Amino acid sequence: MSYDDLTAEELKERLSRVEESLRRCERLAIAGRYAGAVMHEVNNPLEAINNLVYLTQRESHDAEQVRRNMHDAETQLERLGEIARKTLSYYREESEAKDSNLVELAESALRIHAHRFSANSVTVRKHFPQPVVTRVFAGEILQVFSNLILNALDALPESNAVLWMRIRMLGERGHIMIADNGRGIHPSMHKTLFEPYVTTKSSGTGIGLWLSKRIIDKHRGTIRFRSSQVPGRNGTIFRLSLPLGQA
Ligand SMILES: Nc1ncnc2c1ncn2[C@@H]1O[C@H](COP(=O)(O)OP(=O)(O)OP(=O)(O)O)[C@@H](O)[C@H]1O
Ligand SMILES: [Mg+2]
Repeated sequence: MSYDDLTAEELKERLSRVEESLRRCERLAIAGRYAGAVMHEVNNPLEAINNLVYLTQRESHDAEQVRRNMHDAETQLERLGEIARKTLSYYREESEAKDSNLVELAESALRIHAHRFSANSVTVRKHFPQPVVTRVFAGEILQVFSNLILNALDALPESNAVLWMRIRMLGERGHIMIADNGRGIHPSMHKTLFEPYVTTKSSGTGIGLWLSKRIIDKHRGTIRFRSSQVPGRNGTIFRLSLPLGQA
């Protein structure tokens, strides 16, 4: 039957059915994207806890280090708890923002991945001249640092690999820089880098940067990058800026 034969009433009825199935598709698409994001969020703390267990086994003679590892593991477990709660309540606010020192969060993120730095002979150059305290959802910011560090690690060369991390206060904002001398990001990806599912990795989900941007947006911050694949000048630099005393 062609649409010409339908009465206005029948057309209206069809239209509302089409609208209903469109809404259902939209809900499904959102649920799918959300499930991917949740999986990604769960994976990072799990990997971190795994690493911390490994580290603790190797460093069991060093009580202070063990204590620090346990503290980091606890933070990650809290994060898992938050994700579980968040999943149940479908993205309800997780917890309160608290005053946190970005330098401590960065040190934690670096410690969590320390085993990969030593396994891949990566030189880490840190520049944290002063504490930078701001109101943030600490678990989320830790996740952003962790995502950026993992991306750098994945891109770094086998020799002379360097990762730079700098945190400082500039005016009313905390500035974080994470850079690497890795392979760089192809220019064709620059425009869509923060969109979900953009990945060049066989085991990547392409959610890391999308999620990181969402977290930084939520904190009313900015995230930018520059990258080059020109041999000899290759590398990537991410710059984050967070307002101090907000969340
Ligand atoms: N520092 C970097 N150096 C080179 N390429 C990078 C860097 N950071 C991101 N990329 C590129 O951007 C893509 C998207 O990164 P993103 O973190 O969003 O996803 P992913 O790392 O592929 O997967 P995952 O969801 O597990 O993080 C990566 O696949 C990689 O190609
Ligand atoms: Mg990633």
